[in-house]
Amino acid sequence: MPTTTIDRGAYFTSLPQPYYLSPSLYEEELELIWGRQWLLAGHVSQIPAPGDFFTFEIARESLILIRGDDGEVHALYNVCRHRGFRICDPTQGGHMKRILCPYHAWQYGRDGELLHAPKHADGDPFAYADYGLHEAAVEVWQGFIFVHLSDDPLPSIGAELAAADESMGVLQPERMKIVKTIEYPCAANWKLLMENELECYHCAPSHPELCNTLSLAEMHAHHNEWGPDRPYFYSWMPLKNGAKSLTMDGETVVRKPFGEYAEGREVPEGFASGFLVQPTCTFAMFYVDHGITAKLIPNAVGEATLVGDWFVHEDAVEGVDYDLDELVGLWDITHRQDIELANRQQLGIASRKYAPGPDSKRYEPGIESALNLYLEMVGDVSGLLDLPG
Ligand code: FES
Ligand SMILES: [Fe+2]
Repeated sequence: MPTTTIDRGAYFTSLPQPYYLSPSLYEEELELIWGRQWLLAGHVSQIPAPGDFFTFEIARESLILIRGDDGEVHALYNVCRHRGFRICDPTQGGHMKRILCPYHAWQYGRDGELLHAPKHADGDPFAYADYGLHEAAVEVWQGFIFVHLSDDPLPSIGAELAAADESMGVLQPERMKIVKTIEYPCAANWKLLMENELECYHCAPSHPELCNTLSLAEMHAHHNEWGPDRPYFYSWMPLKNGAKSLTMDGETVVRKPFGEYAEGREVPEGFASGFLVQPTCTFAMFYVDHGITAKLIPNAVGEATLVGDWFVHEDAVEGVDYDLDELVGLWDITHRQDIELANRQQLGIASRKYAPGPDSKRYEPGIESALNLYLEMVGDVSGLLDLPG
């Protein structure tokens, strides 16, 4: 049973103060929320060949995302089976023939199996087969790599996002590449960024650039269609009439369109696609020429990082097909505005006078949906709603 309810009939509220300030609740959330959802880790273009890898840090865990010799993507816990050493540095990424723990030089294959432990032949005194790296659940959907920390994973993310298959599939996302990544540190509880990203009531006053080409009326209508409190959505940001892409001026910023649109398929008026994961707040917005993903990484009760990635066609060439500053411009401004909003909201929420006010069921329904899901996932946390001393 959730500890709190947010429904007040004609409106709902966000959460009472301790939900945004309690360190013990934050610790529980890492397991109850972040340990129980499919999380977007990256994209296949980051690891095209066997041995290519990157690390993904989330909820006090570190995973090595590596393309195995079998051609599959593996998510291996970055924890040596000898004495627990963190094998790859979080800033590392690249290519490796074998996974070598630097401490005592145990060697693992690209699929995680233990291949060699110095001074110990296989079976002397332990069997190598018993000491491969632990694997997390991993699934690649439309080129996006999702991981799951639970040993008891939810149903397939591909099945969950099936409604987005058609419009994302036309873009051939597995033939995209990431050309820019920016990390935005935020001095706020992760849920404030999540709430911000799920409503566009703030878009007119706070995102003037975004509102040049975003259709606010359709955005509100779209939010109202989201319906029941589900974690995975086919979702997009609708364009104003006549706009071709969500950019500063509605024109495309990449000359080479994605997928079938590069091969002459007619682009539907106002084409937009994407997906959303809540309450962990990952969203992806794709247009005919470019796309973005944004994922939230919680760091501490009052700290999070928003990671923004920008995608173009794998053959698009910087300086020829697109200008990087122009590509990044709109969402870089928008992300910075959102971070500033969350930072200032955190300050207000810490006040002795803060109490959750009325939120609009019509203009902020995404928050209600995500918070109901959140409350259901964390359950009874009445014993954890302490405040920092
Ligand atoms: S901890 Fe990795 S080889 Fe010893
Ligand atoms: Fe925003």
